[in-house]
Amino acid sequence: MRHVLPLILGTLLVAGTASARQQPTTAQPSIPPDVQESRAAAQTFSATLKEALQQAIQNGGPVNGIEVCHVKAAEIATDLSQKLGLLVGRTSLKIRNPENAPDNWELAVLKQFEARKAQGEPNDSLEFFAVIDDDQGQKTFRYMKAIPTASLCLACHGEHISPEVDAKLKELYPKDTARGYKEGDLRGAFTIAKPLP
Ligand code: HEC
Repeated sequence: MRHVLPLILGTLLVAGTASARQQPTTAQPSIPPDVQESRAAAQTFSATLKEALQQAIQNGGPVNGIEVCHVKAAEIATDLSQKLGLLVGRTSLKIRNPENAPDNWELAVLKQFEARKAQGEPNDSLEFFAVIDDDQGQKTFRYMKAIPTASLCLACHGEHISPEVDAKLKELYPKDTARGYKEGDLRGAFTIAKPLP
């Protein structure tokens, strides 16, 4: 995530994987408010993006969808971040937009998600959070939630990408590595950061 300096796992103060079976927006006294807030933010981000993407594809096919992702993804993230007072973003082990590159903490969590998935955990329940000190000593709440690959995603992230989509992606993202995914793979994760007092 941009703006968040690399953080060291060794500075972990609190970490957890509160039962992810519960609905993100349900108030639960046993789950810290920062986790509930982050779950809700990730869900809003996901739903808003998916709606914009589906509409764009319906109106003008996948090439039109690329334009929307290109412009809207960052716009939605910025709007939501300002509204909620959190830093909201997306990241992945194989990124399309270099601005989505993971920092050290995010990289470790993405690898942890892959390991947990390999051990049979359902990929739609993979989440992780921690309170850490960043390298400037700022106490920060961090949260990540895995993003599974659905069939809708394959036109732009799958193994068989049409020549038109391929050309547009190459034009906008010459260093694109976010391809070759199959349905059910982990595409990446939502990532949220909140500076604490
Ligand atoms: C119409 C093409 C298209 C479709 C369909 C699509 N994406 Fe993307 N995706 C993009 C583009 C373009 C970007 C780069 C956005 C940016 O510039 O931040 C992107 C970026 C991402 C990122 C951010 C990390 C990165 O690689 O930069 C994630 C995570 C992601 N997509 C997940 C998905 C998922 C999950 C689906 C299916 C629900 C999906 N995408 C469907 C085009 C698409």
